[in-house]
Amino acid sequence: MMHPGRGAQLPKSFHIKSYGCQMNAYDGERMAETLLAQGLTAAARDEADLVVLNTCHIREKAREKVSSDIGRLRRPGGETPMIALAGCVAQAEGEEIARRSPSVSLVVGPQAYHRLPALVAKAARSGRAIDTDMPAVSKFEALPPRRRAGPSAFLTVQEGCDKFCTYCVVPYTRGAEASRPAPAILEEARALVDAGAREIVLLGQNVNGWRGADAEDRAIGLGGLITALDTIPGIERIRYTTSHPCDMTDDLIRAHGEVERLMPFLHLPVQSGSDRILKAMNRSHDVGSYSRTIARVRAVRSDIAISGDFITGFPGESDADFEATLGIVREIGYAQAYSFKYSARPGTPAAAMDHQIDPALMEERLRRLQMAIGETQKAFNQNVVGRRTAILVERPGKRPGQVIGRTPWMQSTHVESEAAMGDIIHVDILAAGPNSLAGRAAAVPSMEQAA
Ligand code: 5AD
Ligand code: SF4
Repeated sequence: MMHPGRGAQLPKSFHIKSYGCQMNAYDGERMAETLLAQGLTAAARDEADLVVLNTCHIREKAREKVSSDIGRLRRPGGETPMIALAGCVAQAEGEEIARRSPSVSLVVGPQAYHRLPALVAKAARSGRAIDTDMPAVSKFEALPPRRRAGPSAFLTVQEGCDKFCTYCVVPYTRGAEASRPAPAILEEARALVDAGAREIVLLGQNVNGWRGADAEDRAIGLGGLITALDTIPGIERIRYTTSHPCDMTDDLIRAHGEVERLMPFLHLPVQSGSDRILKAMNRSHDVGSYSRTIARVRAVRSDIAISGDFITGFPGESDADFEATLGIVREIGYAQAYSFKYSARPGTPAAAMDHQIDPALMEERLRRLQMAIGETQKAFNQNVVGRRTAILVERPGKRPGQVIGRTPWMQSTHVESEAAMGDIIHVDILAAGPNSLAGRAAAVPSMEQAA
C-alpha cells in the first residue's frame, strides 16, 4: 500500500481510458495492473478518484479528443477526480497542458508509467507530479507480473521507431527502437497463457525490427522469437503487428511457412502507391520493393491476408500519385486496411513542406480510397464463403446464443454456439458482409485448424 503523506487524499479507485493504437491498449492494461497491485480498485469514469487518460498524438483529431475529455471530467457539484495524462500526448506536450489546465495534476510518459504509484502519491501530496523521462533501464522489469488476460492477449516486445517518416510523431513520442530480451518475453507469454490467453499478439511500433538472442546466445530476429514462442504449451495462435516493409527479413518470412500457429495475416503499411510520395515520406521502400516483399511472403504462405495503412493528401500528392495508390490497393488485394487523411503534426518535416493539400480534396480521395479498399476486402471475405475453418471465440455476440471469434485471417465471425470464451471451434462460413462473416458451428473437426 502507498503511505499517505500529510493531509494527502490518496485515490482509492481508478479508471483508465486508452485512445489510439494497440500499444496504448497494452500500456493501459499494465497501468491498471500496477494500480491494482497497490490496492486501488477499478471504477467507472464518473465514480473513480483517479482518471488516467492514456492519450494518442498520431493525428490532430486524436489530440483534440484529449482536451474535450479533460473538460468533461468536471463533475456536477464542482469536485473533479485526480486527472492523470499518460501516453503520447503526455510525452509530447504534457507539461504545457498541465500548466494550462490546473485540473491535470499528473503527467506520465509511455516510458515512465511503472512509476505511477509514486507519482500518484506525489500528486496527492503536492498537487503536481510530472515524469516524461525516457530512462535507459526498461520499465518492464519494474511492472508486476501479468495476471489477467482475455483469449487474445497483447504482448509488447519492441518499442520506439528510428525510421523518421516525415509525417510521423512516433520517433519523438516513443523514442528510439528498443527490443525487450527474449527470456522476459517468453516469461510474460507463459504468464498470459496461465491467465487464460490462447492467442498472443506481439506488439511493437516496428515489431519486425525486434532483435535479440536465443537460449544459446545466438542473434535472432522476430522469426526466431516466434519459433521460440511456438514451443510454449497452451499458445494456439501467434500474431504480430505493426511491421515495416524494410524489416521483413528472411527468417520472419520463413516462419510464415514453417510455424503452423503463426496466423496467416500480415499488417504491412505501404502509405502510398507513388514512389515520388514514398520518397517525400522518407519511407525507404518503393512500390516495387514492397510488392516483391509481399510476393516472397505469398510464396511460402499463399493464403496470407495482407493488411495495410494509407495516408491520402500528403503534401504535394497529385491526382496521378493518388491514382497510383488506388492501383496498389487493387494489385495487392488487401484483406483489410486503415486509411487516414494526412494530418500535419507540429515539429515533423512534412508539416513545413510546400503544397499542402486542400482538406476537401483529401476527403474526396479518402472516400475513393475507402471504396477501393472496401472492394478488395469484400472479395477477400467472399473467398472464404463455403469453406470450413476455425475461430477463436473471443466474446459473446449481440444475440443470445451467439458468439464472435476470429478466423486465422482475422475476420470477425458470428456463430450460434455454446462454446466458451477461449475455445477454438470449427465453423462453416455461410456468408460474408463488408466487415464480418456469418458461420455455422461444424460438428466434424476441420482439417484446416490453422489455415
Ligand atoms: N497523418 C495521417 N496519418 C498518419 N499516420 C501516422 N502519422 C500520420 C499523420 N501525420 C498513420 C500511418 C501509420 C498509422 C499508424 O497512422 O498510416 O501507419
Ligand atoms: Fe511512424 Fe514511420 Fe516509424 Fe511507422 S515507421 S512509427 S509511420 S515513423
